[in-house]
Amino acid sequence: MAAEPLPGAQAPAAEGEPLHAVPPLPPAAPDGDDLAAILEDLRERGLHRRMRVVTGPQGSRVVLDGRPVLLLCSNNYLGLADHPRVREAAADAAMRWGAGAGASRLVSGTMTVHRRLEEALAAFKRTEAAVLFGSGYLANLGVVGALARAGQVVFSDELNHASIIDGCRLARADVFVYDHRDVEHLAWGLRKHDGRGGVIVTDSVFSMDGDVAPLEEIVALARRHGLRTVVDEAHGTGCLGPGGRGAVAEAGLDGEVDVVIGTLGKALGAYGAFAACSARMREYLVNSARSLIFSTALPPPAAAGALAALELLVERPAMAATLQANAAWLRDELAREGFEVAGSSTQIVPLVVGDAALAMRMCEEAIQHGVFAQAIRPPTVAPGTSRLRLAVMATHTRDELRQAARTLGRAALRAGFRPGAGLPVAAAQPPGHPDERVPEPL
Ligand SMILES: Cc1ncc(COP(=O)(O)O)c(C=O)c1O
Repeated sequence: MAAEPLPGAQAPAAEGEPLHAVPPLPPAAPDGDDLAAILEDLRERGLHRRMRVVTGPQGSRVVLDGRPVLLLCSNNYLGLADHPRVREAAADAAMRWGAGAGASRLVSGTMTVHRRLEEALAAFKRTEAAVLFGSGYLANLGVVGALARAGQVVFSDELNHASIIDGCRLARADVFVYDHRDVEHLAWGLRKHDGRGGVIVTDSVFSMDGDVAPLEEIVALARRHGLRTVVDEAHGTGCLGPGGRGAVAEAGLDGEVDVVIGTLGKALGAYGAFAACSARMREYLVNSARSLIFSTALPPPAAAGALAALELLVERPAMAATLQANAAWLRDELAREGFEVAGSSTQIVPLVVGDAALAMRMCEEAIQHGVFAQAIRPPTVAPGTSRLRLAVMATHTRDELRQAARTLGRAALRAGFRPGAGLPVAAAQPPGHPDERVPEPL
């Protein structure tokens, strides 16, 4: 039975509710005509997606669908995915331990490389322990699902990542969605639902906006109300804080957050994720996080690649500072072009244009002129807030970033958007379609 919605909050999606911009499927038609109709509808609304293909390794410059471009939308923030030491470590691991782990961690899939990586991650995050997950998506699914149960409440920032939203669904707990970074709204929700138990969960760096959660206040509120905290450092790990240890470390909160999630597929250049926590929490997650229990362990080459990347980061702690200096440089250059970038304080810099089709046009224009910055549209972001999400790398040069800002300025004008105008030049479009609205709390 669906949980009772909270006043001032909403319950997780009920069975059959649309979860994204794709309308519900009609009855199956011969030759997939029902699917064709839905795809056409997405095309008409500027929401159709396709996969672009990169030839060669992931660097700051790539060949995209046959065209050389500056890559400005990769989460390979430190350029470690194609670092020689990371590649060698992954290749050696494949020769030594094989391509796959063959089973879940709790059966026969735990190998020495997993244990070594977990120990290194715990030392890096200054926690007692760490436990690996197959990906950041799986980590959030497993951790949120393990820390909140039916009848309890997940307090979640409205701009948290989709994997946290899905974790809330899996938890079957009630969900109180507080306004983005609004600690007063969170405090109100906590008072309202005091005594119910549950967890507060937030991204540290918000993936589509590049701003940072008010972690100190959140941790203080959690303590006051006897709740646990989960902080998703997918975009903080390797990027912010002393030596790239993340936003939690930057805020001086080492040891104060119950579970810090990090990914291995972004700044650490490989694939997978981890939860850094106390030894007891690790034991609890191993016994309760379904996405850990019921999924094959990380392949040894991914684990070894991430371990080599982590060692590089520890050896060269200034990498994160280089990344943030590059990000500040790009923001300045974009501001010079007239773009509004004040919302971001990190390596993720959104250029919000509003309309989905306009964002696509601007993206295509920029690609034609050698800059790849992916357009992000509903349901990833709210209707009317489509954007180009720029992601800076530590390996970009200042010159590349200056040129990119100029190219993006010109691409915006050609697509019909005047930077800084706040609204598309060719506007007259209502912000999104009402039926795109995600009826979820998050
Ligand atoms: C905030 C956040 N959490 C989790 C994830 C999922 O991580 P992964 O790509 O390892 O599944 C992402 C991915 O983009 C993210 O942005």
